[in-house]
Amino acid sequence: MTDTARIFGSFGMQSQGISPPSAPCIMLIFGASGDLTKRLLVPALYNLACDGLLSDNFAVLGAARRPLTTETFREHMSSDDQGIRKFHTRKTFDEAAWNTLSSRLHYVPNKPDDVADYNVLREQVARLDAQYQAGGNILFYFATSPSLFGMLCDNLHLAGFKEGPGWKRIIVEKPFGSDLESARRLNEAILAKWDENQIYRVDHYLGKETVQNLLAFRFSNGMFEPLWNKNFVDNIQFNVCEEVDVGMRGGYYDNSGVLRDMMQNHMFQMLAYLCMEPPSSFKADAIRNEKANLLNSVRIYTEEEVPDNFVRGQYGPSFNSDGTVKPGYRDTAEVNPQSNTETFAAGKLHIDNWRWEGVPIYLRSGKALWKRGTEIVVEFKKAPQALFRDTPVDKLASNRLVFHIQPHQGIELLFQAKVPGPLLGLQNVDMRFSYGDAFNASR
Ligand SMILES: NC(=O)c1ccc[n+]([C@@H]2O[C@H](COP(=O)([O-])OP(=O)(O)OC[C@H]3O[C@@H](n4cnc5c(N)ncnc54)[C@H](OP(=O)(O)O)[C@@H]3O)[C@@H](O)[C@H]2O)c1
Repeated sequence: MTDTARIFGSFGMQSQGISPPSAPCIMLIFGASGDLTKRLLVPALYNLACDGLLSDNFAVLGAARRPLTTETFREHMSSDDQGIRKFHTRKTFDEAAWNTLSSRLHYVPNKPDDVADYNVLREQVARLDAQYQAGGNILFYFATSPSLFGMLCDNLHLAGFKEGPGWKRIIVEKPFGSDLESARRLNEAILAKWDENQIYRVDHYLGKETVQNLLAFRFSNGMFEPLWNKNFVDNIQFNVCEEVDVGMRGGYYDNSGVLRDMMQNHMFQMLAYLCMEPPSSFKADAIRNEKANLLNSVRIYTEEEVPDNFVRGQYGPSFNSDGTVKPGYRDTAEVNPQSNTETFAAGKLHIDNWRWEGVPIYLRSGKALWKRGTEIVVEFKKAPQALFRDTPVDKLASNRLVFHIQPHQGIELLFQAKVPGPLLGLQNVDMRFSYGDAFNASR
């Protein structure tokens, strides 16, 4: 493997054809009967299998309280309505890749608070390790409530999982606490028995190719970086719109809201990638340090300043296209009928550093909006109007660089061109790059 491939590989950025397969390991998923596993984790593993990126020495052991068997677990994950055929994200379904992966899915019932259950887990992992020759590498994936993270860490440690050959890594999902204090407590609980270099706090947004491309785009294209500052950029906008409403996730969402569910994690990660200074390398620590520097420069508003810079909202009842009523947020199952949890928020941030002083950064996100789409718009300052004073052009538009993150994946540059004809008229036009066209993407 070349150095470049290894460096990109260190945060999952690989180009077609040079990606190495994953290391041998047994992946032990806690919360394997839940939504995250079937909707995101198994489809992600399936994508790796389709791209030939899963090691031959890899298997999954799912664990949760539900009394499933390996056979019923595989059936659930394979089902048309609640399994891979519903949740995969590729253009076509690869039956052979799925068959290979599903033959590597195993299940064992586990009560997170029952110490004796972890001895069973150890036996099962040891059996699979021998069967798949995984070299003792174990990836623990906590696809379950953060309230269980500390208990899982303690009980895994008590059962001796930290010992033995091979690496042991723990992946924890968001939400990582609900405020600074609870995040610190959670950190302490996890690090009480495990080492920092074994813990992977995941923001799955950073796994999106289009998000990883923010760094590649910025730092591999010399023509944009000189413009990437207060002298040329008028404003930056981050929009994360969801068409779906809260649906069946009212219980979770009512304790969260869009600020915690979207802004302080996914949107701040994108903000940091887009606005941070160039790191000294693509190594994880170098990127983390620059992201932290950027976030430290975000102005913290006083309580009085907040209403001038942020608004919060909540969707009410509306109509489906057939005239039936769609319930409003407060009518949703498991949502407090007097809830003030926000389903929409929009705000203006300032980054008080040399590069971005005075450039407003707008964030908007919400559920039950008119469209689904995540995009970042970098709006440049307008060209001087003066030259056009004796022409039909009464107003110049701004140039905009738009990063389409999802569902459309691509980059668009908007500018103005002369309308053919004897008069000097302008029209907005664009240059587009689409992942699907450029990389023959299968998803
Ligand atoms: N779903 C998503 O899209 C998504 C995205 C990002 C992050 N997350 C986070 O990932 C975690 C899991 O989310 P999810 O949507 O998969 O939740 P879920 O559908 O409620 O699943 C929770 C899982 O935890 C297991 N579990 C074990 N002990 C439990 C206990 N004492 N109480 C409740 N459940 C217990 C459940 O299985 P048994 O009942 O069989 O034990 C189930 O497998 C949450 O923290 C969520 O915020 C979810």
